[in-house]
Amino acid sequence: MRSIGVIGLGQMGVSIARRLIAAGYPLTVYNRTKNKADSLLQMGASWADSPGELVEKVDVTITIVSDNQAIEKLALDEGGFLNSLTPAKILIEMSTLTPATVRKLFSKIREKEAGMLHCPILGGPLDVYGGRATICAGGPKSVYTSVSSILEDISSTVHYVGEITKATVMKLSLNIMLTHYFLGVASSLSMAKAAKLPPYLIHDILTRIAEPVVQKLGDKILNQEESITFTLNNFEKDQRYFLEAAAELGVHLPTNEAVQKLALEALDKGMGNLDFSSLAALLLKEEATD
Ligand SMILES: NC(=O)c1ccc[n+]([C@@H]2O[C@H](COP(=O)([O-])OP(=O)(O)OC[C@H]3O[C@@H](n4cnc5c(N)ncnc54)[C@H](OP(=O)(O)O)[C@@H]3O)[C@@H](O)[C@H]2O)c1
Repeated sequence: MRSIGVIGLGQMGVSIARRLIAAGYPLTVYNRTKNKADSLLQMGASWADSPGELVEKVDVTITIVSDNQAIEKLALDEGGFLNSLTPAKILIEMSTLTPATVRKLFSKIREKEAGMLHCPILGGPLDVYGGRATICAGGPKSVYTSVSSILEDISSTVHYVGEITKATVMKLSLNIMLTHYFLGVASSLSMAKAAKLPPYLIHDILTRIAEPVVQKLGDKILNQEESITFTLNNFEKDQRYFLEAAAELGVHLPTNEAVQKLALEALDKGMGNLDFSSLAALLLKEEATD
């Protein structure tokens, strides 16, 4: 069994490390704040004093830290992991990052002739702990093939999507939807609460309709279906009514303000009698300016 290292023991890193220990891998860990490793060391993990020392000790290194700045610091600072990477080593970067940072890191790691994948995760620490997260994997196919069993030990759902930044963007793209979901649920429940409506009933109805709505709208957009079920004129009217009712109840709906702005843009372009799903075309710059 190959030895693995985990750099970054926040919410996600600890869950990943626990799964790897449970799967029987010899594990070494490093974190800027050492005491976050305590429970893992008690479970049998070893400690490395720096990211560089960790990479020297293991075959495969997983990094999962906050952001672009954190990963660059851990790679490049004194004791950083970049200088310890050699051709036999593989880095699996799992943080949510931008394509520019992933590209930069990938090019530096290629100079060392080491292998690298970007494998950001969809799902929180409890999903990881339960093996239910979704991993988007990008990078050279041969590198992916050599570590796919490790990724599958972290989560049963792993999608290999091709070149390295494809996975970076796939994760960001999926998270956009989740962000809207979150704000959507928060907005609906805030308005329900302000109007003294039964919040759990609203929550139940939203839960029941969420999956079929996502499926139906996704199908409509992907298949460019032109059938009209709800016009943009009516869609814009609804946005206005949400905002008017919310103002009366003292609820702030910033995302619906942005949606109304987009709907008005569509009406200005003469799209009022088209189906509301044609708003998707406005998001694709090239199509919108055609
Ligand atoms: N939590 C989630 O639900 C979730 C879900 C999907 C994806 N993600 C992504 O996964 C990554 C990790 O998230 P998390 O929730 O585990 O974050 P977290 O709990 O806030 O942990 C952040 C980790 O990054 C380290 N770090 C931050 N800045 C650093 C720096 N300048 N130098 C060295 N280390 C630094 C922290 O070290 P210290 O312990 O020393 O502060 C810690 O290990 C993020 O990119 C996040 O967007 C998170």
